[in-house]
Amino acid sequence: MPAFGAEFLWGVATAAYQIEGAVAEDGRGVSVWDTFCRTPGVIRDGHTGDVATDHYHRWRSDVALMADLGITAYRFSIAWPRVQPDGKGQANRAGLDFYNRLTDALLAVGIRPVPTLFHWDLPQPLEDDGGWLARDTAYRFADYAALAAGRLADRIDMWITLNEPFIVTAFGYALGMHAPGKALMLGALPTAHHQLLGHGLAVAALRAAGADRVLLTNNYSPAWPASDAAADLAATDAYDVLHNRLFTDPVLLGRYPDLAAFGVGPDGLDCVADRDLDVISAPVDGLGVNYYMPTRLSALPGSPLPFQMEPIPGYPLTAFGWPVIPAGLTELLTSLSEWYGTALPPVYVTENGCSEQDEPADGTVADPGRIDYLSGHIRAVHAAVLAGVDVRGYFVWTFTDNFEWSEGYHQRFGLVYTDYDSQRRIPKSSFSWYRDLIAAQRSAG
Ligand code: FCB
Repeated sequence: MPAFGAEFLWGVATAAYQIEGAVAEDGRGVSVWDTFCRTPGVIRDGHTGDVATDHYHRWRSDVALMADLGITAYRFSIAWPRVQPDGKGQANRAGLDFYNRLTDALLAVGIRPVPTLFHWDLPQPLEDDGGWLARDTAYRFADYAALAAGRLADRIDMWITLNEPFIVTAFGYALGMHAPGKALMLGALPTAHHQLLGHGLAVAALRAAGADRVLLTNNYSPAWPASDAAADLAATDAYDVLHNRLFTDPVLLGRYPDLAAFGVGPDGLDCVADRDLDVISAPVDGLGVNYYMPTRLSALPGSPLPFQMEPIPGYPLTAFGWPVIPAGLTELLTSLSEWYGTALPPVYVTENGCSEQDEPADGTVADPGRIDYLSGHIRAVHAAVLAGVDVRGYFVWTFTDNFEWSEGYHQRFGLVYTDYDSQRRIPKSSFSWYRDLIAAQRSAG
């Protein structure tokens, strides 16, 4: 593996609802995911995050295992309903105490904490008031950011505002596959603007509280046309705007991309107020990039979303059925650099990984498929670095197997196997492989 340099961050990423459990402890409020998981039929086998990997109780041993892995940074998320059970008002001290202890434990073993403030677990009372369809939620988010950073920014220098706002808009509000389960199609577009406004307001709140570096994490997917037919090319462009540019152009360029393919006229979205774009485009110190796979598209005439996704034949598939295409990550990173030029801040790959059908045997778990996946994608990152993209970190999704949203506990993405009956953690062979890679990188750096 080529050397990435001494400053490059090597990490793992997790999210609160996927690992913590303890949903009713220490004053935590209800999130939209608690509610969604109770809707019959929406989560595979009716699984919930009630217990998850019980990280809320096992964080000490989890941090010890991270120290064994040798990571230099840990991306986790703070559960908004632990900090503000109702989504507004005073901080719940016991909730913040948890992240305070976690922060100190990470720093004690030389791991840089990188919290994400919103990884999808909106407090239910805010959803009851309109959720991200309501402009007010953006202001509530900034208040929450100020409370979290007020407690932690003296020790945490790197913060992420939102995780994958595209997925919240598309899966949560347009298609209804994720919480809060709304199927509004294009009626979901205001949730894009309100999340972006929340991001911008939170950037200011974080800086006021002393945060040094602030990032936004988006999910990106190179858009590939299914054919050269004009209609498929137009469908691909439309998808590209929605997935890859809608949540980045406003932040880095201070303007929305052309949304004409979605029936939005030249005056833009109605919900955008004067000066909102100034708030949204406040400078950030990095862009978090989550990559799993490209998307292949063909036209779907007569639909409000004028495209449909096509399978991408000819590649190995993960247990989720996602094609394994490392070159897509090089393509993505180089095209971000081409689109945004000098407006692109340093990039951190804040998620990348795969689910496999992992099974323990004789006390270990062999997962050669994941080692291939990670090694191919890390090389793909290096290819982008050689092409001139300023990439400064890589975080594997994820540390332990955990609650994979609508798939429940069926998709295992971890470097560590979770036995959900006993909560025993069994490091997989990819864990040792990643540990050795990090050790080699650190001694080369
Ligand atoms: C991403 C999410 C993360 C995880 C991976 C597999 O979209 O950010 O929580 O579920 O997918």
